[in-house]
Amino acid sequence: GPLRGDVPLPGDKSIGHRALILGALADGATVIRGLSSGEDNASTITVLRGLGVAVEREGDLVRVHGRGAEGLRAPTAPLDCGNSGSTMRMMCGVLAGRPFTSRLDGDASLRRRPMQRVVDPLQKLGARFETEDGKPPITVHGGSLRAGRIEIPVASAQLKTAVLLAGLQAKGTTTVVEPALSRDHTERMLPSFGVAVARPEPLAASVTGPARLRACEIDVPGDPSAAAFWLVAGSIVAGSRLRLRRVSLNPTRTGAIDVLRAMGARLEIASLDPIGEEPVADLTVEPAPLRATTVAGETMLRAIDELPVLAIAAAAATGVTTFADAAELRVKESDRLATMAAGLATLGVRVEELPDGLVVHGGSGLEGGEVDACGDHRIAMAFVVASLVARGPVRIRGVEAIAVSDPRFLETLERLCGGSA
Ligand code: S3P
Repeated sequence: GPLRGDVPLPGDKSIGHRALILGALADGATVIRGLSSGEDNASTITVLRGLGVAVEREGDLVRVHGRGAEGLRAPTAPLDCGNSGSTMRMMCGVLAGRPFTSRLDGDASLRRRPMQRVVDPLQKLGARFETEDGKPPITVHGGSLRAGRIEIPVASAQLKTAVLLAGLQAKGTTTVVEPALSRDHTERMLPSFGVAVARPEPLAASVTGPARLRACEIDVPGDPSAAAFWLVAGSIVAGSRLRLRRVSLNPTRTGAIDVLRAMGARLEIASLDPIGEEPVADLTVEPAPLRATTVAGETMLRAIDELPVLAIAAAAATGVTTFADAAELRVKESDRLATMAAGLATLGVRVEELPDGLVVHGGSGLEGGEVDACGDHRIAMAFVVASLVARGPVRIRGVEAIAVSDPRFLETLERLCGGSA
């Protein structure tokens, strides 16, 4: 049936990680409102507690009692990052500058993900790491760091943030330069903690250390990556009308909105006052006939986490949609190009896998079938959206992974379609 009503979105996961980590490095109690109840942000809390930081949580309100970077204590056990690559990579940057040894580990999916890319730049600043052939667990031998200019080889906000977090602890100016602009939440949030960030070149960010951070209050806007599932569902399920409130519209995150608009989606965007440095808006979506498009280059980078659900939109659209420049998706929570190609093929969609993308032949509808989410939250939610328009039931193996980013997703879906999901 149609999906109608207001969608409660989790707080933005990327902003949540940063607020927690910067709060732990600051002096005083940082208050975070609207933190996601997903497992990924909870993994960051677990790791910070393992370093002796007091974190109090009542629902979506969190208080982080920071005592400066030097308030972090050597952990007595490995720090469990769960499924969260952001937690592990950003904490590498924090721990690189601490005068103790620590060990970061995670679940089976995280243990398969590349970590050499974060180790290399941090080693240039003077920290030492041990990995299992470039993968977790990671042992961090932290110590005093030298500031410097670091060029990272991939456009990755996790790496950029790790270098900036290390730079806050080094004496002098540390500059990180990336090949294309990745999400810039760290750069936007640091001034709220009293730290200036310079942007000396278009793709560079600099901090000067050692920096003292002041506790502050952070309001977390709705997660645009979580919103994307609803924007696609509301576009393809006949008779729907969904409202999403206070969604982050940081320009580094709006690729999926641009893609859906190019496909002919009926989205209304009502801008609101920004929350801190983050632009936000209320979004409304209603169904529209979607047509194929091509997604590549900087738009792909700004929609990198949304490809799974955009591939479902492409299957429901008329024509052939090509996604390119998305090789990074091979090293996410699963190989998202392979898992999406396999699942779509099972549901009767003609799809070709490219080394760096997918070609989706839309317009012939989706069948029922059994697909494997491969333990990946975004794949699981994408196939839930597919099930809403499939001609038969869709069984999703590993659907519990949804709790990583949006534990209320299925319950919300049932409510919005009047209990008939
Ligand atoms: C994130 C950065 C992106 C994104 C991930 C969250 C962040 O990863 O895919 O979901 O919060 O900085 P990369 O840094 O690997 O590109």
